[in-house]
Amino acid sequence: MSQIRAAVTGVNCFVPEHRLTNTDLEKMVETNDEWIKTRTGIEERRILKDKDKAAAYMGSQAVKGLLEKTGTSPEEIDVVICATVTPDMMFPDTANLIAYENGMKNAFTFDLGAACSGFLFAFNTAARFIESGAYKKVVVVGSDKMSAITDYTDRSTCILFGDAAGAVLLEPNDEGNGMMDSILRSDGQGAEFLYQAAGGSLRPASHDTVDAKQHFIYQNGRPVFKAAVSGMAGVVQEIIAKNKLSPDDIAWVVPHQANLRIIEAVARMADFPMERVMVNINKYGNTTAATLPLCLWEWESQLKKGDNLILTTFGGGYTWGAIWLKWAY
Ligand code: ACO
Repeated sequence: MSQIRAAVTGVNCFVPEHRLTNTDLEKMVETNDEWIKTRTGIEERRILKDKDKAAAYMGSQAVKGLLEKTGTSPEEIDVVICATVTPDMMFPDTANLIAYENGMKNAFTFDLGAACSGFLFAFNTAARFIESGAYKKVVVVGSDKMSAITDYTDRSTCILFGDAAGAVLLEPNDEGNGMMDSILRSDGQGAEFLYQAAGGSLRPASHDTVDAKQHFIYQNGRPVFKAAVSGMAGVVQEIIAKNKLSPDDIAWVVPHQANLRIIEAVARMADFPMERVMVNINKYGNTTAATLPLCLWEWESQLKKGDNLILTTFGGGYTWGAIWLKWAY
């Protein structure tokens, strides 16, 4: 009997309409378009302006379109996993709200953190559910309203992040396509360089935490930059070597979009041409858990059945990893 793998059978995204450009940011903090473009590759990001809408709304919109596109009825979905660091609330889970909004009455749902690696970790979890044979249709969502935790007076972080959501449907595949292998890693030593200090049980929200701006993202960029390059390049090389692949066998590398210079360095170290690396950071910035589905969605029409993709991420925690995925349609 052929092995059951978890294949992507559809992808869909939601991006808010409002564009926050580098020129807009020049009016908010001491920065300039040239610095942002050369240091990060970002030209604009999307911002969800509506104060009554957040991660669950964006995720719901992405999933609604995904169900329509794949001709899937909401009742057929077994599991919904939402990767996010900006849940609507600490509980109930955002995945729960997304499932309710879309009428997925038979699904169990939960959120997963892992910062910018959230989508990759959720994808791997969902794939293992499918491989077990217990579940047939699993939706993986990455949704982050980063503007909700970004300090727009801090030029070192406010230029980086944007809002978006993306979702994929995973289903069993016995044709040899789907998730072939994964390598996921975590290292708590990275906790001091990238975090949101307050809002959890250690420092619940108080006047003091708000005054100290502890509900915003804090990042010490340089150590994170170095760790991101060595972390992603390391796992990409490892997954290629472990599976006796060569860069020529890979149709596309799909990297987390945190900084164009990080992506270029990873491609260089893994001996991979930039022409086959998905890059859309210029349009969306770093959307945390949404970056990978945003790439898959934009490149969907260019992907062919059987194409080898390497998905790779690096995020707060630290968390990082790579997945070898054979595209199934
Ligand atoms: N405009 C102009 N100048 C700026 C800006 C800005 N927006 N931001 C910082 N600078 C200045 C700094 O003040 C500093 O000036 P100084 O030399 O006079 O002190 C100089 O530019 C260099 O600052 P660095 O922080 O060292 O700049 P760097 O080249 O490292 O770029 C960046 C910063 C873009 C944040 C980079 O470090 C980076 O991309 N880091 C990794 C991001 C990442 O991968 N994050 C992980 C995922 S995110 C997640 O998990 C939620």
